[in-house]
Amino acid sequence: MRMTIERTLSIIKPDATRRNITGAINHRLERGGLRIIAQKRIQLSQGQAERFYEVHAGRPFYRDLVAFMSSGPILVQVLEGENAVVLNREIMGATDPVNAAPGTIRKDFAESIEANSVHGSDSPENAEEEIAFFFSTIEICP
Ligand code: CMP
Repeated sequence: MRMTIERTLSIIKPDATRRNITGAINHRLERGGLRIIAQKRIQLSQGQAERFYEVHAGRPFYRDLVAFMSSGPILVQVLEGENAVVLNREIMGATDPVNAAPGTIRKDFAESIEANSVHGSDSPENAEEEIAFFFSTIEICP
């Protein structure tokens, strides 16, 4: 299979910053073959969280998700590597930690389907949009 260098947007969520495990999660990402080419710690306003998760507006978990994602600091990151979108999803594991494979971030660190420690883009197209939501080109240093 031909490999492509891709970028994906990663978020280390408030449950992980609260437990001070951002370094442990970054180690998993780097060990898995991804390079952190941009990173910053921010706290989303409710409005910013609403906009970021707009695709989920109307889903039953939307209000709780917005409240949780704006409840504390997060780390937003741009990850780069071969097939970064799919690779990051493999390293993260399934959305619900109950279904996550052994050795994945969510299996080992997530508290619940909501407080599931990390977010990752689900396609290269969404990755481009999500990266532009948080980062300007000058902040990305490959
Ligand atoms: P994330 O990858 O950040 O994208 C949307 C988030 O909604 C998801 O991870 C979960 O943390 C959260 N969520 C909460 N409940 C659900 C649910 N029932 N199905 C999917 N996602 C959920």
